[in-house]
Amino acid sequence: MKVWAFVLLLALGIFTRPIAASVDPLVERGKYLVAFGSCNDCHTPGWRESDGGVPVSGWMTGSKLGYRGPWGTSYPANARLEFSHISENDWLFMVRTRAGHWPMVWHDLRYLKTDDQRAIYRFVRSLGPRGVAAPADLPPSREPKTPYIWIVPH
Ligand code: HEC
Repeated sequence: MKVWAFVLLLALGIFTRPIAASVDPLVERGKYLVAFGSCNDCHTPGWRESDGGVPVSGWMTGSKLGYRGPWGTSYPANARLEFSHISENDWLFMVRTRAGHWPMVWHDLRYLKTDDQRAIYRFVRSLGPRGVAAPADLPPSREPKTPYIWIVPH
């Protein structure tokens, strides 16, 4: 083999290996789980209205559409900002311990295997921070200034 060809192959070997190794399969898995887990229905503005037509770059940026019920009014958080400043372990802890914050699906997330819970974090985190924080939660006595959905059993 010619020396230059050998050097080229060596260089290709060195430069392609770290790239291949850095592709985390959990990121792709997380995308699948976020899509099927209905996360975009609440956390991605325009998702329902566009029949799921929001590009991935706009996913999980939080919403100003409140969910109002006996607990007050809560807003789907901007998970892109949230995940840029909490660790994967913080997220796992949150999934294990959060309860009663309607309508967020904490009770469903707890049923996922730990790797799947990790996958959701890794995917959302891989998208990077974007957008602004969702409005702060309101107590039951406060009338929201934003649009909201009433969730009250009759
Ligand atoms: C029916 C609407 C709804 C769905 C579906 C939903 N969420 Fe939420 N989510 C909320 C609301 C409202 C909050 C704010 C209340 C709270 O913190 O529990 C929230 C909070 C959060 C937070 C912020 C937690 C914190 O306090 O820092 C994250 C992260 C999150 N959701 C991720 C997800 C993921 C991932 C999915 C999909 C598996 C999902 N959500 C599905 C409505 C929803």
